[in-house]
Amino acid sequence: MKVAGRHYRSLWWDGDAGTLRIIDQRWLPHDFRIAELRTLDDCAVAIREMWVRGAPLIGATAAYAMALKMHDDPSDDALARARDELHATRPTAVNLRWALDRCRDALASLPYSARAEAALVLAHDIADEDVEINRRIGEHGLAIIREIAPRKAAGEPVRMLTHCNAGWLATVDWGTATSPMFQAHDAGVPLHVWVDETRPRNQGALTAWELASHGIAHAYIVDNAGGHLMQRGLVDMVLVGTDRTTRRGDVCNKIGTYLKALAAHDNGVPFYVALPSPTIDWTVADGIADIPIEERSARETTHVLGRTGAGDIEHVMVAPEGTPGGNPAFDVTPNHLVTGLITERGVCDASAEALSSLFPERADAAAGSQQGLS
Ligand code: MRU
Repeated sequence: MKVAGRHYRSLWWDGDAGTLRIIDQRWLPHDFRIAELRTLDDCAVAIREMWVRGAPLIGATAAYAMALKMHDDPSDDALARARDELHATRPTAVNLRWALDRCRDALASLPYSARAEAALVLAHDIADEDVEINRRIGEHGLAIIREIAPRKAAGEPVRMLTHCNAGWLATVDWGTATSPMFQAHDAGVPLHVWVDETRPRNQGALTAWELASHGIAHAYIVDNAGGHLMQRGLVDMVLVGTDRTTRRGDVCNKIGTYLKALAAHDNGVPFYVALPSPTIDWTVADGIADIPIEERSARETTHVLGRTGAGDIEHVMVAPEGTPGGNPAFDVTPNHLVTGLITERGVCDASAEALSSLFPERADAAAGSQQGLS
């Protein structure tokens, strides 16, 4: 998508330097900075400390990290260690495991001399596929928005609510939840987006920045406002992203998503999830029992990053000195609260039957490998 009129992806390969360039998201929306990642360790830090974030982007970054490692050391030992080191950076978004296992499986059978080049080609493929998946999610999501639009009074926009940032910054391009918004806006459908700030890290500010860059009407709201807005009839549709969706359609996403789903259910507001297929974890059915939830530093809750009146980007403390904090980073919305999953192959119910009929080859492969294990 565009920043100040220039097209960017959230990461790209610098062929001359042989390094990965990323948009360093720690500074957004206050400052637009590009960082260079030269090694696997650089990439691991960038993922863990959320210079890059969002499930699909974490996966793509990890794939490039594997390519950087294979350039330095293409041995079997390095391949296994790289996979494990990167896998340990963030536990919840399953795209990380998906990308790493795809790289390991493709590279392991190659001679050492072929691994560096093959790893880079694979990382490019993963990045390009992500862009296409998200473009298609946008087309299917647009169809839903188009169904709602004629029910609005003349001149009234379709009012959407989103949580966290499932925008282009969280993917390689387009975003998942934002792709239908961008495409609806481009198609001339009047739109207004309520953007949850998403404490503690305020990823909503990234979404607001993206929507503003694209000229989409929006308002940045506190996380607690959603239920009230739904009761007043001011939300036509909730659309969020996901970090891991189980084979039966339980949706793990940024902390607070579950509360939005509950409020949507109580108020008869459709609750949709933009779901790229690499975010489906076919090995897990019960999301509440079996998805690992990342617990991040309590400092993220007691301190907030912002720009001061003097223009400096600083952390300020918002809790009493020494207050203990708790910081679970994700929650699980059970499938019965989800109206539909918007995938690259179309929209389906949040159920095992619907997901496996949309992705039969993946469901079969996962069932086969589970049988092999038992
Ligand atoms: O902790 P984050 O910022 O990586 O969490 C991001 C989210 O929860 C997104 O909604 C999710 O990864 C989907 S991104 C297309």
